[in-house]
Amino acid sequence: MRILSGIQPSGEPHVGNFFGAMRQHVELQAKGEAIYFLADYHSMTSIRDAGERRRFTHELALDYLACGIDPARAILYRQSDLPEVTELAWILSTVTPMGLLERAHSFKDKVAQGLAVHHGLFAYPVLMAADILIYNADIVPVGQDQKQHLEMTRDIAGSFNHCYGREVFKLPEPMILENVAVVPGTDGRKMSKSYDNTIRMFAPQGEIKKAVMGIVTDSTPVDQPKDTAAALFQLWSLFAKDDERAALFARAQAGGLGYGEVKKDLLARLLAYFAPQRERRAQWESRRADVEDVLADGARRARAIARPTLDAARDAAGLGPAR
Ligand code: AMP
Ligand code: TRP
Repeated sequence: MRILSGIQPSGEPHVGNFFGAMRQHVELQAKGEAIYFLADYHSMTSIRDAGERRRFTHELALDYLACGIDPARAILYRQSDLPEVTELAWILSTVTPMGLLERAHSFKDKVAQGLAVHHGLFAYPVLMAADILIYNADIVPVGQDQKQHLEMTRDIAGSFNHCYGREVFKLPEPMILENVAVVPGTDGRKMSKSYDNTIRMFAPQGEIKKAVMGIVTDSTPVDQPKDTAAALFQLWSLFAKDDERAALFARAQAGGLGYGEVKKDLLARLLAYFAPQRERRAQWESRRADVEDVLADGARRARAIARPTLDAARDAAGLGPAR
């Protein structure tokens, strides 16, 4: 089974990214041939600062290595190290109906927000289809927000196969990470960089403490029952075993449990939980050249899988000399 996913380098990861995506990516390494890439081409649709892109891309590699991606097992590479994917994106763009792209929620949202949209944003799903189809991936683990992009990938694959009368591409199965609950942020809304309500997993401890202590709670007095659906309790639960959660929730519902106590305990649990990752990250941080070696080796292994698929697509479409 071949598993593929791309992650956009968009700044430092938060607890929501970890529980919503990174943890699953790490776990999936054991289940098949996992390929993960740092989607720096895709980041060009939003980031316009070259230095920032380089820094974010490098940091994302560190984050994934810190969280437990094992480069001896999984392939980790930088998307732009395989420009083959952009050639395939062009090929696929010629069998992608305009109407399909015009229906993309993410594009329509950007238009609705009044952003100055460009062709790259419009063509984003075609590049994503190329990423996936070039490996004939079986399973693509992504968040719910990417579901439509995967449906488009299947349409585009079918369209190419139909157009050129060859089954060059396999239709991939989306694996929507929907059994993972949305992690709330410190203000109770979905944790997201754009809401400024995140707890960044690798931030200095003082910053993490400030974020945890700042989790918004209501003014229910200590002796009164508490609403365990509140962000504080949901965040705390991420770091607790089932029986511990049952015990704490019972105390909360009975009254007598103060929010301050829960916050302190959450902070201690959170720091302990991410301590091994933090330690591993510090080690990789001091080995910049080794990180580049991991990515170079990843690109080499990725190319060995990607090149034959691209060649088959070129041949089916009558590009280059007859084989
Ligand atoms: P983003 O940086 O928002 O594109 O998110 C990257 C990945 O993390 C996606 O797979 C999201 O589904 C996941 N993710 C982001 N925020 C959260 C959250 N608050 N709860 C759960 N998963 C999240
Ligand atoms: N669009 C995805 C996101 O923003 C990232 C991505 C790019 C991706 N190419 C992909 C995910 C291919 C899965 C497969 O999260």
